[in-house]
Amino acid sequence: MEDVSKIIEVDNVKLNEAEDKVVYIDQTQLPNRLIYLETDEEKECYEAIQKLKVRGAPCIGIFAGYAMYVLAQKYAGLPYEDFLKEFHRQREYLNSSRPTAVNLMWATKRMEDVVTANKEKPVAEIVKLLGKEAKAIHQEDIDMCDKISEYGLSLLKDGDGVLTHCNAGPLATSHGTAQGPFFLAKKKGMNIHVFADETRPLLQGARLTSYELQRAGVDVTLICDNMASIVMKQGWVQACFVGCDRIAANGDFANKIGTSGVAILANYYGIPVYTLGPSSTIDMNCPDGDHIPIELRDPEEIKNKFYAEPMALKEVKCYNPAFDVTDHTLLTGIVTEKGIIYPPFKENLEKLFKK
Ligand code: MRU
Repeated sequence: MEDVSKIIEVDNVKLNEAEDKVVYIDQTQLPNRLIYLETDEEKECYEAIQKLKVRGAPCIGIFAGYAMYVLAQKYAGLPYEDFLKEFHRQREYLNSSRPTAVNLMWATKRMEDVVTANKEKPVAEIVKLLGKEAKAIHQEDIDMCDKISEYGLSLLKDGDGVLTHCNAGPLATSHGTAQGPFFLAKKKGMNIHVFADETRPLLQGARLTSYELQRAGVDVTLICDNMASIVMKQGWVQACFVGCDRIAANGDFANKIGTSGVAILANYYGIPVYTLGPSSTIDMNCPDGDHIPIELRDPEEIKNKFYAEPMALKEVKCYNPAFDVTDHTLLTGIVTEKGIIYPPFKENLEKLFKK
């Protein structure tokens, strides 16, 4: 198995410039196999996102930027109007792969804006600009993660215990958002103890978070989701750090299913709850959590996946929402690359975007 430092230092998504393909780690194979895949096929790009080979809100955005660039080269010979039409169709297709993480729509819009803003230029030149934009999206994410990690770490002190849910580390984004501060703490010689929820049903916490942290030498303990309450009650958790897939204008936020339960428990025990993510995750067009579309996934993920044999009768009904919404009243602060936003979230988020 390759060293995790490679996962942290090597991009989970990148461009193969020689062959004009987008390269990505197949995250469904971790922690047992570190496999890189590459593609320039539209359907494979869609499936990479839909099947969670590429996952985590910012990582999906970075991947979508490169995918749109690579795919655009296939019809770069078309006249401008036809090129735009095809580009738009492709954008809608990729957007339909997963509905909740706003970073996907944000990145594909940024790419289409390049096409429309440069309509006077030859299509071949527009395609080059698309390559530049995709790389800019990626570089900005790296810079944002580093700032988020610094802000996040400023909330912790040596010896603190932090509970996290799902995976918002270097696999889900470039250098990590909700888990970025833990890597930074390690680098600075601080001792932070992390409790990683396993995160049913797809086990991102077990398969990805505990893997990344353990291999990086961070003090991590894996727990089942239903153990969060006991570690909080013991006094072992001083803060909860979680990621986000979309933050509404009032501070309600969608994140991996189970996050809302963690926040409710933390409030009961008086533990602060922070969501950490790039400002591209804030959707000011979405007034509150009721307006965030929640992805429903295949019941097989609950009954069969990861088990040697089915763990429920085939005919049993299942409800498998991929995300839930945490009410902003349960949230202590939102950590972005622009700083930490505290309540009242509606007013303070508005101010942030007016700057
Ligand atoms: O379904 P996933 O694995 O894509 O869900 C990921 C999460 O919910 C993360 O916490 C979120 O995307 C933030 S990643 C930096």
